[in-house]
Amino acid sequence: MAASSPAPTQSLLAVLLLLFLSLAHAQELTSRPKPKAILLPVRKESATLQYTTTIRQRTPLVPVKLTVDLGAKSPWVNCQGGYVSSTYKPVLCGSKFCQLALFNSCSSTCYQPRPEPGCNNNTCGQYESDPFIPTAYYGELSTDAAVLRSTDGKNPGRTVSVPGGIVFTCGFDPLTQKLAKNAKGMLGLGRSGISLPSVLSSAFGFPNKFGMCLSSTRSRGVIIFGDGPYFLQPGKEVSQYLTYTPLIPNPVSTAVLAFLDEPSWDYFINVTGIKVNGKAVSLNPALLKINDAGNGGTKLSTVNPYTLMETSIYRAVMKAFLAEGKYLKRVSSVKPFEYCFNTTGVGSTRVGPAVPQIELLLGGSSWIIFGANSMVYVGNSGETMCLGIVDGGTDARTSIVIGGHQLEDNLVQVDMVNKRLGFTSSLLFYQTTCANFNFTVAA
Ligand SMILES: *[C@@H]1O[C@H](CO)[C@@H](O)[C@H](O)[C@H]1NC(C)=O
Ligand SMILES: *[C@@H]1O[C@H](CO)[C@@H](O)[C@H](O)[C@H]1NC(C)=O
Ligand SMILES: *[C@@H]1O[C@H](CO)[C@@H](O)[C@H](O)[C@H]1NC(C)=O
Ligand SMILES: *[C@@H]1O[C@H](CO)[C@@H](O)[C@H](O)[C@H]1NC(C)=O
Repeated sequence: MAASSPAPTQSLLAVLLLLFLSLAHAQELTSRPKPKAILLPVRKESATLQYTTTIRQRTPLVPVKLTVDLGAKSPWVNCQGGYVSSTYKPVLCGSKFCQLALFNSCSSTCYQPRPEPGCNNNTCGQYESDPFIPTAYYGELSTDAAVLRSTDGKNPGRTVSVPGGIVFTCGFDPLTQKLAKNAKGMLGLGRSGISLPSVLSSAFGFPNKFGMCLSSTRSRGVIIFGDGPYFLQPGKEVSQYLTYTPLIPNPVSTAVLAFLDEPSWDYFINVTGIKVNGKAVSLNPALLKINDAGNGGTKLSTVNPYTLMETSIYRAVMKAFLAEGKYLKRVSSVKPFEYCFNTTGVGSTRVGPAVPQIELLLGGSSWIIFGANSMVYVGNSGETMCLGIVDGGTDARTSIVIGGHQLEDNLVQVDMVNKRLGFTSSLLFYQTTCANFNFTVAA
């Protein structure tokens, strides 16, 4: 016998209840204003010097740890090893996100009996790279549900689910080898239409801007997607200290692998010269420009722990630093650094040890690197510090790569609305640090 259908009154009640629930849900959605900004805490891992964060993704939600990659086109997440989610969707060829990706491959076919995350037909293929190996793979672009924390710029706010989900490329086990412990992929924040900042900005309707404040200690720093305010204790609104310089395009990709004619998604700025203690260093100006092959220029990177300079630039800056720092006593080198000094007798200032200042000239403005960002303490005695800049080689693709140590305790704001980069130089000047965000959830 067939199961008896419910009595008419019962089904009417059920329909009314459903109607009521969906109205209540719609009410909730409309009565809650969209968040103006999204917050991610960022930690530096001492073993790998990678900056990591955790997002909650999939259905059911699971925490997914990712290494921050400032210049990558899109986030990527390992889809092998038990990716289970009822809301996983491949980005199909011709769909909105595939169009926003601009460069893609739509020829892929997956020869498996059944589709699964990372293996669907007619999907928008993208390259994803692990710059630490370095290697790249080709994977399908996808979306999945994600829940993130909103913020008013002062404290964490309520959690919000991202309308339409977040976009990422499906990665594979081998790509995760050199990532921080338990990291499942990388958080691409580059200047593309499918990077996390772009996707969050269009999902929530806030400006395509984000502030990044990396901590120099074990305490968490922050990335805040959306415009300021960005408050750090004790009550400093730090976006007021930003100075801006244009973000300039590089027409040729600098990634491990890319499509033909694909531009770079990295953030390049126009460094036109370098001074040490106010004195100009003589450099080959051609190296500071980005040439037709996409070589040269200056970019920011969170996957390089220390700034890299092409060999001739490196030599010239080191020579100038030593000339200005005659009072510093050299000690033996400690890898990866060449120039190390005895800290005994070196004065200390609000912005770190009293060493020559390195100034990146940016047309109208300049970014000064003070002791806290130029020097790295090595060993446990506190007696040795090294100049935290590394020789990038004579064949360096990008002449200057500003690395993590030089970005720490500086607020940088990527402003894609005005195609400019805001930077504060050292926040220690203003008696605060990137570890000073108030992570207490406001009542
Ligand atoms: C993809 O298409 C090919 C060729 O039509 C088919 O053999 C294969 O089963 C499909 N794969 C999936 C995962 O649907
Ligand atoms: C970089 O600055 C130099 C010197 O001011 C200028 O000539 C050049 O056009 C700038 N490059 C870009 C891409 O804006
Ligand atoms: C640094 O200098 C002090 C004082 O001259 C000396 O005692 C110490 O051993 C030196 N440390 C190193 C690492 O050279
Ligand atoms: C951090 O934020 C909470 C919630 O707004 C507030 O009660 C607390 O006083 C703040 N802490 C500091 C040190 O300002």
